Amino acid sequence: MHILAGPAELGAWRAAQGEVAFVPTMGNLHAGHLRLVEEARRYAPAVIASIFVNPLQFGAGEDYERYPRTWENDCAKLAAAGCDALFAPAVEDMYPQPQTCFVAPPPLADELCGAYRPGHFRGVLTVVLKLFNLVRPQTALFGTKDYQQLALVRAMVEQFALPIAIVGVDTVRADDGLALSSRNGYLSAAERAEAPRLYQTLAVLAERLQAGERDFHRLEQDAAAALTGAGWKVDYVAVREAGTLAAARVQGGRFVVLAAAWLGSTRLIDNLETAGP
Ligand code: PAJ
Repeated sequence: MHILAGPAELGAWRAAQGEVAFVPTMGNLHAGHLRLVEEARRYAPAVIASIFVNPLQFGAGEDYERYPRTWENDCAKLAAAGCDALFAPAVEDMYPQPQTCFVAPPPLADELCGAYRPGHFRGVLTVVLKLFNLVRPQTALFGTKDYQQLALVRAMVEQFALPIAIVGVDTVRADDGLALSSRNGYLSAAERAEAPRLYQTLAVLAERLQAGERDFHRLEQDAAAALTGAGWKVDYVAVREAGTLAAARVQGGRFVVLAAAWLGSTRLIDNLETAGP
């Protein structure tokens, strides 16, 4: 695997490639990230991942400093997964001068997670656009685990006519249902045992939708109460239209249920789509 430490190395590698498929990450890689890399092989002869903990998408008081950095392990995992190249720029490579130009995201960026993490999606879209311009991939892969992020990336690509196909990949979960996440490493043993409740609660909510219930507010309240009762601090539980994340309509076709909640000092997110009608 080629390790590309900055834009110059990336440019030299890229010039020798045809089509490439791209998996952007912040490192501390787990089987979810690796699924994206494996999936990427289906789209192009060359697969490139990036590891960059992007300061622009962390708010004041969030976990930018303590975000887990596990370079050696990450390289070994990517190489074993068949990744051809890894772009791992330093902060000064990505932001050689203070970034003053930003992608202004649509109103969706201020809802759901955006309501609790002001500026987060502006930082995500800005770095994703910049990474796209540096890597110039034909395909880029994102996890549906970060459902809102995927919806916003899709909107940016479509509205800026970026010549990149965006592929969403299903969430990889632990055997007990917990969505794999770099932040799971923050959990104590007791919290880790409790953590699958987030998925279980969403599964109950999705089943009730599937069974025909359409009082969205009630469904959201019940799910939030189940979590709160078990000691979680809930940011939100929401029923939305699948794909666009528009407000759920009683006559709507497919739904996605999403939640963000705190277990101690760790914020976890998850979502589930309901099956088609
Ligand atoms: P990060 O949290 O490292 O995630 C990188 C990619 O892996 C994202 O597309 C995310 O949705 C996907 N992913 C995470 N957990 C997953 C799981 N359990 N199953 C499947 N896919 C999973 O998301 C980011 O980094 C950043 O915001 C980034 C897009 C790199 C911009 O900085």
